[in-house]
Amino acid sequence: MTCYGYIRRVPTAKPNGYTQRYSIRRRNIPGMKGTPLDDKLVDYMIDLFPVEDDLLKELQKEMGQAEIPTIQISPEQAAFIGLFLKATGARRVIEIGTLGGYSAIVMARALPEGGHVDTIEVDPLHAEFARKYIAKAGLQEKITLHVGSAIDLLERKLGNSNPYDFAFIDADKPSYIRYVDLLLPLIRSGGVIAGDNALAWGEVTDQHTDREDVQGIQAFNQYMAEHPKIDAVIVPIGDGMCIGAVNHEN
Ligand SMILES: C[S@@+](CC[C@H](N)C(=O)[O-])C[C@H]1O[C@@H](n2cnc3c(N)ncnc32)[C@H](O)[C@@H]1O
Repeated sequence: MTCYGYIRRVPTAKPNGYTQRYSIRRRNIPGMKGTPLDDKLVDYMIDLFPVEDDLLKELQKEMGQAEIPTIQISPEQAAFIGLFLKATGARRVIEIGTLGGYSAIVMARALPEGGHVDTIEVDPLHAEFARKYIAKAGLQEKITLHVGSAIDLLERKLGNSNPYDFAFIDADKPSYIRYVDLLLPLIRSGGVIAGDNALAWGEVTDQHTDREDVQGIQAFNQYMAEHPKIDAVIVPIGDGMCIGAVNHEN
């Protein structure tokens, strides 16, 4: 009998802000390989390939003290995105959802000289905090922080930019599809759009959810899966990232 996989919630209290992990029990399909992740394995990966220097640790600590939610990407996601940007030779990145600047700093550090990150944040308090840490990291030249609503900024200000190589969506979930539509013309063919929280805190398979954020993620994943100009996959690190390569020829 085939036993289908399910998502099991594993509560943990992590000082760095990612408070819950989900282990995914693999499907019992003959020949299928996979290892469910638990905290021990994730800590092993993080410890072996560390990305957080003192500045990123301090940033997270101070975010907590400033009562800014510590909902930044996880360290293993940071390691993955950094490597991905380096491996693909990305130079121009756009991010929706800056928060305290953690992911923007990680991405900017992975870009070559002359590379650039445009990051968008609607909350002035978050933006002010991020600006301080972008300066502390010495990345003022490499990161431009745009304060305002992402839809507005994408429509009015950033719509005529040079093409981007990579877009990272990590903001209000119900708007994710709209962001894909607005970002698509800004991404070069062969470039990539990624959205965080593709596993929706373990709730993505709940077809009866009344949570708007979960519904937003469900719709986004579906959109990425079916879009004729996007070849996508979910990478199950952190809370999952749906990553799609853009092909304007399709
Ligand atoms: C999950 S956090 C981003 C985390 C960040 N990418 C990191 O990993 O360090 C989401 C951020 O998106 C911002 N946000 C929410 N709605 C937005 C909108 N409509 N336009 C721009 N930013 C928005 C929130 O204020 C919040 O700071």
